[in-house]
Amino acid sequence: MAAFQERVFSGVQPTGNLHLGNYLGAIKRFVELQDRYECIYCVVDLHAITQPVSVWGGPKELASNIREVTAAFIACGIDPKAHIVFNQSQVHEHAELAWIFNCIARMGWLNRMTQFKEKAGKDRENASVGLYAYPCLMAADILAYRATHVPVGEDQKQHLELTRDIAQKFNNDFAERIAELGYTDGFFPLTEPLISGPATRVMSLRDGTKKMSKSDPSDYSRINLTDDADAIAQKFRKAKTDPHPLPADEKELEKRPEAENLVGIYAALADKTPADVLREFGGAQFSTFKNALVDLSVAKLGPIGGEMKRLAQDPGYIDGVLADGAGRAQVIAAPVLQAVKDIVGFVRR
Ligand code: AMP
Ligand code: TRP
Repeated sequence: MAAFQERVFSGVQPTGNLHLGNYLGAIKRFVELQDRYECIYCVVDLHAITQPVSVWGGPKELASNIREVTAAFIACGIDPKAHIVFNQSQVHEHAELAWIFNCIARMGWLNRMTQFKEKAGKDRENASVGLYAYPCLMAADILAYRATHVPVGEDQKQHLELTRDIAQKFNNDFAERIAELGYTDGFFPLTEPLISGPATRVMSLRDGTKKMSKSDPSDYSRINLTDDADAIAQKFRKAKTDPHPLPADEKELEKRPEAENLVGIYAALADKTPADVLREFGGAQFSTFKNALVDLSVAKLGPIGGEMKRLAQDPGYIDGVLADGAGRAQVIAAPVLQAVKDIVGFVRR
């Protein structure tokens, strides 16, 4: 992929209740990648409205959630000056490229998307067209910057495969024209997903077989980034476990989803491996391990929640970050979209 400049892109939806899964699976990784790559982090508000208004909460809630995700990015350690932080709707190139991708992607590809099936549920006739086309918009987010690396949680793997399929089909369908215009390695890169570490799929604290999610009706199922020390302690103490002490061997853990989840969370927060954690806590009762987990979580998440609350008092600053980021994002995306239009054959002004 020598022809492509290395660049990281990722997005988080402003749909409220940012939680430990979002942090460990995504935002913490975003922070770590800043040293090695040029990074673009996007609050994907166009994706948020693919669900019914009752889910994303209406105009006031959307605006407040956009600012909250931005505050979380900054509070977790993303540097909006060295990198780019913005909200999707301010850069119209995303929606425009998504339309072109709607015409590249095949119905059959989208019909296989498991997230659509989960979110649409039984009443598929009543799902928005936007929810169906969601993965094409996600591909546009990434490819408007010709991004080469995308850090996400495990649940986004299938969408990233579709992004590669779209890039490949575009490169193939227009291969001759792309070569004529001087691109030697295809126009779009085949983006690499970055999904690794002990917490790519953080599970609900109430049920170790269900993903921790923003939309779970029980607040006890998740640790929110804005939870205070008391809430964190209460939620971990009530977290479902089994009656046995922690095993010493990682293989044993696989059969015990709740134990595996808590060990994975501890490992990710401590920047260790699950094997390291079992070396320390193998044979311990859950009560002992949970106390250590609460202390570690409060130490790591407390400052983030505090900073988010402080930033919530300063929406002017947040809006400034988003406007500045959108301007710099557009400088990259606009020429990419113009090249796409030239490749497809649209006549320029
Ligand atoms: P979303 O809130 O759906 O926009 O997700 C934002 C990011 O968090 C994506 O990269 C997701 O893959 C990641 N994510 C969401 N839930 C979890 C979870 N339970 N465990 C790990 N990563 C997650
Ligand atoms: N679909 C992602 C999620 O729900 C959010 C997202 C939108 C995204 N566009 C993206 C993630 C581009 C990575 C890259 O988590």
